[in-house]
Formats: sequence, C-alpha cells, structure tokens
Amino acid sequence: MNSEHDTPGTGPDEARRSFLKQSSLLTAMALVPGPLVQAAAAELDEKVAAVFEKIPLKLEVNGVKHKVSIEPRTTLLDFLRENLHLTGTKKGCDYGQCGACTVHVDGQRVNSCLSFAVMHEGKKITTIEGLANGDKLHPMQEAFVKHDGFQCGYCTPGQIMSAVACIREGKADSEGEIREYMSGNICRCGAYSNIVAAIQEVKGGGQKV
Ligand code: FES
Ligand code: FES
Repeated sequence: MNSEHDTPGTGPDEARRSFLKQSSLLTAMALVPGPLVQAAAAELDEKVAAVFEKIPLKLEVNGVKHKVSIEPRTTLLDFLRENLHLTGTKKGCDYGQCGACTVHVDGQRVNSCLSFAVMHEGKKITTIEGLANGDKLHPMQEAFVKHDGFQCGYCTPGQIMSAVACIREGKADSEGEIREYMSGNICRCGAYSNIVAAIQEVKGGGQKV
C-alpha cells in the first residue's frame, strides 16, 4: 500500500485544475474591453472607499476649534477647502510639486496636499485667511502688494505662507538663501524677483512675522 497519498484538494490534479481555472480567468479578463475593466475597477474603488468609516478629528484652524468626522483619506488641503470652505489655499499640482497649497501646521510650513487631515489631530493650522490681524494685513501681505509680488495671484497664498516661514526659519539672510528656501513654490507668472524683494523688505524691516 502506498503510504504517500494526496490530501484531497492539494494533489497534482487539483493544482493543475486550479492553474487552468486561473489562466482561463486571465484569458477572459484580457478579452474584456478596457473601458469595462476600468469601470469595474472604479466601482471596486468606490466599494473599498465605502468600507472606510469616518473618524473623529479635533484641530484648530486660524484660531477656531473644529470637531469633525471625516474620511481618513481626506487630505488636509481638501479638508480646508471643501469642509471648511477656506479656499484661499490653492490646489495647483496636488502632488507636492508646486507649493500652492502651503499652510502652517504648528508653525511649520507643509504642503497640505501631501498630508491627510487626520494626521493633524490636536494641531494648530494657519492658512492665508488666518494671517491678517482682522482688517490689518500681515506685513508680508503688505510687502507683496507694495512690490507687485503677484500677477495672476494663484500661487500667492502659498508663496506668502512660505515667505513668512522662510523668515521664521532664519532662511532669508540673502537673495540666494531666499531663492533657495522659496524654491518649492512655483510661480507660473514668473514674479520671482518681486517676491524676493517683498521678502527682503520684511526681513530688513525687522517686523515681527
Ligand atoms: S498643490 Fe500641493 S504642492 Fe502643488
Ligand atoms: S502670480 Fe501667477 S502663478 Fe504666481
């Protein structure tokens, strides 16, 4: 008597059947038109997303405390713009490459498109809307106006948030340093010289930023 025998479902026959089933499935999928596969994938994405439950989040934005429930996949940028309607923070690339979405988190500048809102539990966020003191513009906002630091203005909120951080970080002692530490903020209008002039004025004026 042969003491070696296949456990049902694990022997060579079963492995062959399983292989044939899988390869038939792959062949069938290859024959399905692309749009149909994409539609199925999109539907699957939605179902996966629906599995995520909203989770509670407490944070402070521009001095106002918020207690909300959000999907964990919500970026800080989308949370600010869509949940809180603070549309001053701009969405440029959405990939961390343009700096249009720069805000301060506990005083540090971050690209809000690159972090999830739920990562900022208990933190203090400042957006361009929170920079001015009531009706009085922040010195950096005033300097941008004075030096024509913007043209279309799309990059300007992110530029101003970075410019303030740049001075606070002690990275604005020379034109070269300013250009280097502002290099994460892209301006399609090319207002760079004016932006540098605005930052130099604020830095030179010794005003509190
Ligand atoms: S939108 Fe965030 S870096 Fe471009
Ligand atoms: S002012 Fe237009 S993108 Fe900078």
